[in-house]
Amino acid sequence: MAPRDVARAAGMSAGVRALAKGVVGTVLALGAVLLLRTATFPGPDELPDWGQAGTSRIPAQFSETERTAMKEALKEAIRMPTVAFSSENINTTALAEFGQFLPKVFPSMFSTSFIHHEVVEEYSHLFTIRGSNPKLEPYMLLAHIDVVPASEDGWEVPPFSGLERDGFIYGRGTLDNKNSVMAILQAMELLLRRNYVPQRSFYISLGHDEEVSGKHGAQKIAALLESRGIRLSFIIDEGGYIFDSFFSGIEKPFAVISVSEKGGMNLMLQVDSAPGHSSAPPKETSIGILAAAVSRLEQTPMPNMFGDGPEKALLEQLAGQFSFPLNVILTNLWIFGPIMKRILEKTPVSNAMIRTTVALTMFNAGIKVNVIPPTAQATVNLRIHPAQTIPEVLEIIQNIVADDRVQYQVLSVFNPLPMSPYDSDAFGYQLLRRTIKDVFPEVTAVVPATCIGNTDVRHFANISTGLYRFNPVILQPQGFNSFHGLNEKISIQAYETQVMFLFELIQNADVEKVPVPHSATHDL
Ligand SMILES: *[C@@H]1O[C@H](CO)[C@@H](O)[C@H](O)[C@H]1NC(C)=O
Ligand SMILES: *[C@@H]1O[C@H](CO)[C@@H](O)[C@H](O)[C@H]1NC(C)=O
Ligand SMILES: [Zn+2]
Repeated sequence: MAPRDVARAAGMSAGVRALAKGVVGTVLALGAVLLLRTATFPGPDELPDWGQAGTSRIPAQFSETERTAMKEALKEAIRMPTVAFSSENINTTALAEFGQFLPKVFPSMFSTSFIHHEVVEEYSHLFTIRGSNPKLEPYMLLAHIDVVPASEDGWEVPPFSGLERDGFIYGRGTLDNKNSVMAILQAMELLLRRNYVPQRSFYISLGHDEEVSGKHGAQKIAALLESRGIRLSFIIDEGGYIFDSFFSGIEKPFAVISVSEKGGMNLMLQVDSAPGHSSAPPKETSIGILAAAVSRLEQTPMPNMFGDGPEKALLEQLAGQFSFPLNVILTNLWIFGPIMKRILEKTPVSNAMIRTTVALTMFNAGIKVNVIPPTAQATVNLRIHPAQTIPEVLEIIQNIVADDRVQYQVLSVFNPLPMSPYDSDAFGYQLLRRTIKDVFPEVTAVVPATCIGNTDVRHFANISTGLYRFNPVILQPQGFNSFHGLNEKISIQAYETQVMFLFELIQNADVEKVPVPHSATHDL
């Protein structure tokens, strides 16, 4: 998937800037009281030890030979053009090659007695890693092998060359998402070579058609696991990153874990009326009726859901990253919430964070210059906020339109994903948060968000309530633009760090409960 959720973060920034202009006066008036509150707010939490898991840890230190092999394997993965052109047209030759390549670079993954490998729908891969403690609920690491197309135009190096230049590996898939495919397997391969046996079981799922819906890959794997009665504690997919230098107000990099995804619906509205000659027109035609209806839809925004999604927590937890007065405002959403709610509506992207959006995308009517149109059709594209349901949204639309002559037809629909928990008891979220703080000490805030795009993890909603989207990669604006774009690349150091992150995360998952300090509850 593309990092569409970054657009969300960018919207937040625009909202925050607007906020700065709009409420400075109010802040100054309330300054004294609020500063007091800010001052007594708990500071960055002290993280307790991993306890028993910490004592037997395998250090994330890799030899020179291992580091070279690691980057060479990624380059080779990039050279296979596993392109998904459409759901019917994926380069299956390259996908088959990829399947043959995996045992060559990760032999231990294929020869260890407690690991079971299955090929699903010919090109997707599922690894089951059986842990020694059956009492711990299993989890899953998810990634996808397919990539979006890339022509050579505009690339500094050919997109499927996997060339190394100035400390970077270039190529389609270096960020989306062969880096994850390779890093997950690489981390486990390195752990196995150090005789690691996990306590907690887990799955590695590698889909082959994420970019074109995941219907044959992830969806089939999910169905397979569901048929086996498997429940997962949590799943980690791509779709959140560490953002560095994105916003002028925030100096330090911060991590975004997406805890939900917006849903979508294409809705057709239609009005039929008796055809006739335009010389003696009726008072209203189908065009007039439908135009008035869609105009009402455009003029009447869907309810503002600020406070019902993760956006409020996101702003509160980022508060400390801003300087005065934004830090004070964001720390005190208990009083500034209503103003924030209004301000976030002002720019399209931040508006998309806080409500279901309605876009009129098509309007078709009329057959001849002098004929009363027998029918008029309009298509509306909706992106549904995770705190709303499809029937709710449909009802609101019918109430806004309020005209019985308008008929509705749902062309396609996709439920928003339920919000995965991000409180102090949410094991998957806390595990990610802790591992981020351990591996990326420069990251000062880990915040929840909603992903406005869609990822493979949505197919697993039946077997887990902990669906998290986070790729342990630091992105700067220019790297961000290379997703599905030109000169996609990853620094060798960033890739090694990703392997290290997974090496740590897999070991960290071997505890029953992530140690969370009491003082941390404020920013959860
Ligand atoms: C598909 O993959 C094969 C094997 O890697 C490659 O030779 C071929 O050029 C690719 N086809 C397309 C259309 O990309
Ligand atoms: C989840 O379960 C429901 C109800 O059994 C089923 O209709 C749906 O297809 C399942 N979803 C997926 C993605 O498998
Ligand atoms: Zn992707």
